[in-house]
Amino acid sequence: MSISHQKQIANAFGIDEKYIKTIIKFIPSIKQSKVEYEIVCCSGPRCAKNGSMEVLKTVKKELGLDFNETSSDGKISLRTQSCFKKCKDGPNIMINGKFYHHMNKDKTIEVLRNIK
Ligand code: FES
Repeated sequence: MSISHQKQIANAFGIDEKYIKTIIKFIPSIKQSKVEYEIVCCSGPRCAKNGSMEVLKTVKKELGLDFNETSSDGKISLRTQSCFKKCKDGPNIMINGKFYHHMNKDKTIEVLRNIK
């Protein structure tokens, strides 16, 4: 669970974030992410057919990161996954568990600028 999700949950329930962190510690199936934004790009063949290479290049350029890297401020991590099993909606990227479908260069830039 990302830091931004923890903040959203704490705000929704009107409680301090430390309670969310405590709950996460007691539920082993929930993993606490150290980054604020975890970005995962599909590198699968069907998304590649639909133009994911341009999306992957755009993500790397916009973030100034390579895959499997984390930003110097520790806020953003970037990695790939071979397929999200959502091929018909590709190219796909996922940010903190939320999917963004039918990505292209312009849509990728817009989505990433909104999280910075
Ligand atoms: S190849 Fe991208 S979701 Fe399957």
